[in-house]
Amino acid sequence: MNALSPHRSGLLRRARTAAGRLWPEGTAVSAADASPDHPVATGNQASGGDHHASGSAGQSAAAAVIASRRGATLSKARSGRAAASTSPFAHRAGALHAEDVSLVALAQRYGTPLYIYSRQAITEAFADFTRALRGTPHLLCYAVKANGTLAILQLLARLGAGFDIVSVGELERVLRAGGDAQRIVFSGVGKRDDELARALAAGIRCFNVESEAELQRLSALAVAADTPAAVAIRINPRVPVRTHPHITTGHAGAKFGVELTQAEALCRRAATLPGIRLTGVACHIGSQLTELEAFTAAAEMLVQLADRLARHAVPLEHVDFGGGFGIRYGSESPPAIADFIGRARAALGGRRLEMLLEPGRAIVGAAGILLTRVEYVKRSGHRRVLIVDAGMTELIRPPLYDAWHEVREVTPHSGVPAENCDVAGPVCESADFLARDRRLAAQPRDLLAVMTTGAYGAVMSSNYNARPRAAEVLVDGTRATLIRRRETIAELMAHEALLPE
Ligand SMILES: Cc1ncc(COP(=O)(O)O)c(C=O)c1O
Repeated sequence: MNALSPHRSGLLRRARTAAGRLWPEGTAVSAADASPDHPVATGNQASGGDHHASGSAGQSAAAAVIASRRGATLSKARSGRAAASTSPFAHRAGALHAEDVSLVALAQRYGTPLYIYSRQAITEAFADFTRALRGTPHLLCYAVKANGTLAILQLLARLGAGFDIVSVGELERVLRAGGDAQRIVFSGVGKRDDELARALAAGIRCFNVESEAELQRLSALAVAADTPAAVAIRINPRVPVRTHPHITTGHAGAKFGVELTQAEALCRRAATLPGIRLTGVACHIGSQLTELEAFTAAAEMLVQLADRLARHAVPLEHVDFGGGFGIRYGSESPPAIADFIGRARAALGGRRLEMLLEPGRAIVGAAGILLTRVEYVKRSGHRRVLIVDAGMTELIRPPLYDAWHEVREVTPHSGVPAENCDVAGPVCESADFLARDRRLAAQPRDLLAVMTTGAYGAVMSSNYNARPRAAEVLVDGTRATLIRRRETIAELMAHEALLPE
């Protein structure tokens, strides 16, 4: 359990002071809330991860505010960082296990490459959020894009999750997995007519609208269907975020959301449009956030907007603070979930507004690994290169985001000296590396585990080079369930046709 940091006691003090205004009851962060215990794989090397300065950031007025806050709060915030607890992936009796199942046994049974998830880790990560949200009216909408495998969605639906979707395909997945339409929010900049119509018919909770054109289109569809659409306007708060440029969304020039300067007018317009019921405002400033400052600035901007709207007789029901809560891939030290939520709660103060969140990575990221086998070992220049049977087709994060994932030997060698190695996939692309410059002693036919790949792993896989998608397994204690079987070569060609004679 973490000792209560100066930062945390500050939060407590503020929450207590505000207690009289809270809705419906006090929401002080308790000492128990201060002890997040979701499993996080510990890194073994310094990490670049996704943690790069954003090239396009820094132009908005918010930048200066955030920069000054960064300096002021860094030392305080650090003491409230997410604590790594026991990982569900640990070495036992000479082999890496997922919970109580040996990865060697899983490779024998299901082959490689193979995605393996821990049910316990997903459950605990979800509980981390619900503990921190205790006493706050909320809806926790898991971002399906992080991992949309049906059994994972089913598990989360049973835990009481709502869902954040970005396509009709994700909507059908959630419904098939037993998710409740009334707990679904629909984000995304390019919703087609058929997608909007299907979501309306399904009776989703809210459309997170990203442009005036989308709002007009939804209004027309809602009137035609005689079904009112609940809407939140997604704002681009233009806050600079320190994460990889490819996963920042709330900066100037981003395609996401509505400019803050136009947001109030659009919200007021939405409130008068036929078929539209304006219920909230939303934002999502980026993924893999490892600091509180930008999140806090965006949260405060959203709540100020809600206040301005209320003054113009446009009262809202909820504020959606998005997702993006960072996790530990290597040496990052993201804030605890309770600290992010504490900031959102502080921004809301005692207002009668429900808090919506859209976490993806923080729920499933540390709960998954990619198991791969070394096919060949070769030398290239001074490098020892391990050629493995998983590549960018299974895990595109390293080439796409320069992401760093820990690589562990499943059955470590004793007596074989480790060397600096690159871990390369079999795909015919120079970028097809899973890891570079790692101390490994692995030999041909050995198994490697690429850690912390539960989010944006399997879901981003492709069939490039005519490679069937990998199988996926969910481990629960001593039990392993195949939740997605390996694709076959025949399935890869199933939707194609040869030319007629
Ligand atoms: C609108 C929206 N919400 C939520 C998320 C989930 O982000 P994360 O997985 O980092 O929590 C994303 C990710 O890009 C997003 O675009």
